Amino acid sequence: MIAIYPGSFDPITLGHIDIIERGAKLFERVIVAVLSNPSKQPLFTVDRRLEQITKCTQHLDNVQVDSFVGLTVEYAKLHNAGVLLRGLRVLSDFEKELQMAHTNKTLNQELETVFLATNKEYSFLSSSTVKEIAQFGGAIDHLVSANIAQDLYQKYHKH
Ligand code: PNS
Repeated sequence: MIAIYPGSFDPITLGHIDIIERGAKLFERVIVAVLSNPSKQPLFTVDRRLEQITKCTQHLDNVQVDSFVGLTVEYAKLHNAGVLLRGLRVLSDFEKELQMAHTNKTLNQELETVFLATNKEYSFLSSSTVKEIAQFGGAIDHLVSANIAQDLYQKYHKH
């Protein structure tokens, strides 16, 4: 079974990597799919995010990295994915995630959303939190991998 793991990944955190590593053990192949969303102003370009994720997942043979525009269900269909993988952190995620899962189900009956409970070590972690800490010069080495920490430092503190 092929699983897609869609998201913004702006940037990828250790929480995301944990989900990818565990997903890679459960599924034949995991496609990490970066949403290219024209209505959002990301910190990193899609190309940069693809490079970042590729570097962070290079130890995983059955993980692919790609980007997409449009509906996740369409992307899943195009790649014969039967599973849409998402991580669940805290209760506040649940409402949004359940709504997304239900919406996606109405769009594609064949696609199952599978939630993995995020490692409790990362239950508080989000890309936005990481960016905020990095912006104000706080330590982020325990939240993202070294290449991401370096990229964030370059963005915020080396102009
Ligand atoms: O990392 P994020 O921002 O929580 O990821 C959200 C994402 C990309 C999974 C979601 O916004 C999405 O699937 N967008 C694509 C558009 C779509 O399919 N919308 C209908 C489902 S709600």
